[in-house]
Amino acid sequence: MSTSDLIAEDIEAYLLHHQHKSLLRFLTCGSVDDGKSTLIGRMLYDSKMIFEDQLAALEVYSRKVGTQGGDIDFALLVDGLSAEREQGITIDVAYRFFSTDKRKFIVADTPGHEQYTRNMVTGASTADAAIILIDARKGVLTQTRRHSYLVSLLGIRHVVLAINKMDLVDYRQDRFDEILADYRAFAAQIGITDFTAIPMSALKGENVTEPSSKMAWYAGAPLLRWLEDAPVEDDLQARPFRMPVQWVNRPDLDFRGFSGLVSSGVIRPGDSIKALPSGRESTVARIVTLGADLPEAVAGQSITLTLNDEIDISRGDVIALAGQPPEVADQFESTIVWFDDEALLPGRPYLMKLGARTVTAQVAEPKYKVNVNTLEKLAATRLELNEIGVCNLSLSAPIAFDPYVANKDLGGFILIDRLSNRTVGAGMLHFALRRSQNIHWQAMDVDKAARAASMGHKGRVIWFTGLSGSGKSTIANLLEKRLHAEGRHTYVLDGDNVRHGLNRDLGFTDVDRVENIRRVAEVSRLMVDAGLIVMVSFISPFRAERQLARERVEAGEFVEVFIDTPLAEAERRDVKGLYAKARAGDLKNFTGIDSPYEAPESPEIRIDTTAMTPEQAAEAIYVWLNNN
Ligand code: ADX
Repeated sequence: MSTSDLIAEDIEAYLLHHQHKSLLRFLTCGSVDDGKSTLIGRMLYDSKMIFEDQLAALEVYSRKVGTQGGDIDFALLVDGLSAEREQGITIDVAYRFFSTDKRKFIVADTPGHEQYTRNMVTGASTADAAIILIDARKGVLTQTRRHSYLVSLLGIRHVVLAINKMDLVDYRQDRFDEILADYRAFAAQIGITDFTAIPMSALKGENVTEPSSKMAWYAGAPLLRWLEDAPVEDDLQARPFRMPVQWVNRPDLDFRGFSGLVSSGVIRPGDSIKALPSGRESTVARIVTLGADLPEAVAGQSITLTLNDEIDISRGDVIALAGQPPEVADQFESTIVWFDDEALLPGRPYLMKLGARTVTAQVAEPKYKVNVNTLEKLAATRLELNEIGVCNLSLSAPIAFDPYVANKDLGGFILIDRLSNRTVGAGMLHFALRRSQNIHWQAMDVDKAARAASMGHKGRVIWFTGLSGSGKSTIANLLEKRLHAEGRHTYVLDGDNVRHGLNRDLGFTDVDRVENIRRVAEVSRLMVDAGLIVMVSFISPFRAERQLARERVEAGEFVEVFIDTPLAEAERRDVKGLYAKARAGDLKNFTGIDSPYEAPESPEIRIDTTAMTPEQAAEAIYVWLNNN
């Protein structure tokens, strides 16, 4: 009985059969011109695909029957999309589901234009295989190179070169051979050594599902056969056991399980495990699932592990076999693909999600970016939408990871903007920077509390932000005089002054301002640790970096003071004559004129300088500090 007949007549038998079929996710790269839609349509049609309404019915049924197979597959299919929707990013990737008697398939159909690099990366991030389409009349084009580069970058190891539209070159073998030779030469350069070339005509159905009689000279399998036979799971099972912990399952005091999806390898009760980053060890007691306990679990299964010891493991940690643990580090080299209209700003803190873990990450200035069409390496200070670059990363906390080439789940990550919550990039970890592993935190005997005791007060950061000429320095100066007169230990870090020394190398581009504030945040953190009341007087125009400064010290140690002077008023005062210069076009990137200022949303203190004198402002802050 064919699959579709079986679905129609005996859904339960179908589901049972279906449940035991393997799943291949693949990506199609090419443009409409290459015949991509025709090819997908042809495969769906020839394989008598499951139509969407049947898929919905399948979900209902699989719940009823209680089998996992149908349910999980459907969830995976839909999840891929909803995760992106939640992140508020529109990705033009259509996922289609179909199945043959041998295997289930999910096709990610992505637009191939250059401006859609991010879509292709999204579609490819979970793909096992890729089909790179070529129009036999045109041969290897720039876009073929771009698609192949991305496919190799994303570590997709099963690649088909589909040389399509063979009907338009009279099914000639010499044309096929010519294209193949061209492609092979290029593929070797980017590390694709293993690929299969198939001559076909999607339109005429030659070599798609059935071998073509028109191209008897081709002895290989038609595309669908190849897709059915491409090896997938075995490979993951052979790798070291890894399970990122999605959640700690603790329904009552007697049960404590760690739930997650096995990313690679095999686990059995009795195995010694190590939890990372903590490094604590135990042995597996049970492998719990909805049904009976399992004697073993393999890559691709969602399980709950219980352990023989009470060790502390939280969401985001990784459980590995004790003898084959992943590395732990907080600084890396990585490749980043930028997704957002707003450029990546080196130094800005972003959220990074890797496996089940979320940490804060700062990206250093790119070492280079790659022209995806020519593969040239170019100098770069930032990454714009759809650009790809190699950059170092430093994280707020160490994480367990594998290089992306060894494990996509533990080496692939996304970056999220902390304010907008948008997914702004994706990346692949190459390796941990050795320097991070050779630098340890030195414990000191005299600590912050001891220093505060001898100072007679605790350290504080009083962070003044506002436009140039808003009155920050004037007010900070008055406040310092007041505190100093009382015998407090104070210091003022002033933008203009610090830019004469420590930050002499920085200008006023967004990138430089981010770095300017990052350094000052670090200096003020040290000063607070030393026990000083430090007043920071910098425009500090971006929320993200002010938030970073806040997070570098303890809760309650950071007081944000918004010196709220409207642009018109600051410009009217124009104490330094800079607004006039900026208006005349003699000063570029001037805050408020042609460079943005993001006003604080909830500062501890807001000073309206149009309603009070600097003396009154300093007094108000002084009173606030005394009361808090
Ligand atoms: S920030 O934006 O990076 O925080 P910062 O506070 O260090 O700026 O420096 C601002 C001071 O530099 C201003 O008060 C002004 O005197 C001077 N300046 C020179 N060029 C600019 C510019 N393009 N934009 C803003 N301030 C500038």
